[in-house]
Amino acid sequence: MKLWGGRFTKPTNQLVDEYTASISFDKKLAQFDIQGSLAHVEMLKVCNIISAEDATSIAAGLKKVAAKIKDGEAVLSEEHEDIHMNVEKLLIEEVGAVGGKLHTGRSRNDQVALDMRLYLREAIVELSQLLISVQEALYKQAQENLETVLPGYTHLQRAQPVLFAHHMMAYGFMFERDLERLQDSWKRVNKSPLGAGALAGTTFPIDRELVAQELGFDGICENSLDAVSDRDFVVEFLSTASMVSMHLSRLCEELVQWSSAEFNFIELDDAFCTGSSMMPQKKNPDVAELVRGKTGRVYGHLVGMLTTLKGLPLAYNKDMQEDKEGMFDTVETLKGALALFAPMIESMYVKKDMMYEAVSKDFSNATDLADYLVGKGMPFRESHAVVGQIVLHCIQHNKYLLDLTLEEFRSFSMLIEEDIFRVLTPEAVVNARDVAGGTAKNRVEEQLSIIAEKLEVN
Ligand code: ARG
Repeated sequence: MKLWGGRFTKPTNQLVDEYTASISFDKKLAQFDIQGSLAHVEMLKVCNIISAEDATSIAAGLKKVAAKIKDGEAVLSEEHEDIHMNVEKLLIEEVGAVGGKLHTGRSRNDQVALDMRLYLREAIVELSQLLISVQEALYKQAQENLETVLPGYTHLQRAQPVLFAHHMMAYGFMFERDLERLQDSWKRVNKSPLGAGALAGTTFPIDRELVAQELGFDGICENSLDAVSDRDFVVEFLSTASMVSMHLSRLCEELVQWSSAEFNFIELDDAFCTGSSMMPQKKNPDVAELVRGKTGRVYGHLVGMLTTLKGLPLAYNKDMQEDKEGMFDTVETLKGALALFAPMIESMYVKKDMMYEAVSKDFSNATDLADYLVGKGMPFRESHAVVGQIVLHCIQHNKYLLDLTLEEFRSFSMLIEEDIFRVLTPEAVVNARDVAGGTAKNRVEEQLSIIAEKLEVN
């Protein structure tokens, strides 16, 4: 007999049971469900809604059920639809009819909203720690590469040289914002919906604040209809997760490019690469590719959740059961990616010489020549044109700027003098960008210390 079977005259069609059950995936919420029930039953006792004796046996029974589920001893069945009713059934099996008092003043609607929040709280803590470990790895690489110059790109065309540390710290700041987003979402996740009942509250003299406190919430959801209908916190989490995935994916794309023979800027550690079943020479950056690939499924979960919610009237609708698999999958997907990312970045071998060779064989110092002429009094627009002519001359003669003789330079502008050969070296070009946030070594060190401070705080 179903827990809600009273008003029914027939058993449920088996296909309906199969179709509507969520136990196959919401069993993941078991420990949170029981944690919530323990707080609820304690409150029922304090508020004299059930006797101390009943509360004690229900709490003891719940703990036994928790242990049985944990050990895989408990049978969770589709017939009982979801984790909430399965736990209640198991409790009644354990302690008898008194178990039926647990659900006093509560609905699965506020219960499931509670479980989701408890689950997400834990996920936010774990993901934050993993994000910090990725930042630490980026920070270490930055520290070791404060003098490593590589081409910086726009349009994937060599633009101006930058320090590799600068490039690493760019991601450091992206993940810092992601961390802020995660932490900020905490104040919206960390509110208790319990006591909202099915939608309108309850006739029992419950104490919502007490349960909230017991469970470590910062407060209660203020409106019962909102409390059971709200999945904003899930959408917000999926959105932050999408942002993290997007950032990871961009870095992955660079790792894939950089480890190609065409770039040849880094080598990922053997432990983080895989081979080919056919081509013996291959070493593939599969992890980076897969993290990039899995970004698609995280975005999918975000769009899926938004779409599920968009047409729902208040309050609870069964559609909302669809909030779980995407959220669980997102948490697992992100945990997997972040856990691999920290050691993959940390163990990455940076080919400093190759990067240096790349910046030495391009025109990424052309802006500096134009700026040099500006320093000698020429308007920038004019110097831009002169340097364009010099670059064209170089291309036609198969040379780079530093291969030109002083005479060649002076045939374009008499303002150019011997010091130009110092001004155009990769180191000089980098260090000339001595502006807040710029790529000069001292400026990148400033950026590193900002991130170091944040890492210490965390
Ligand atoms: N399994 C349901 C869910 O995850 C629990 C809430 C069900 N409430 C209801 N009135 N059918 O959303």
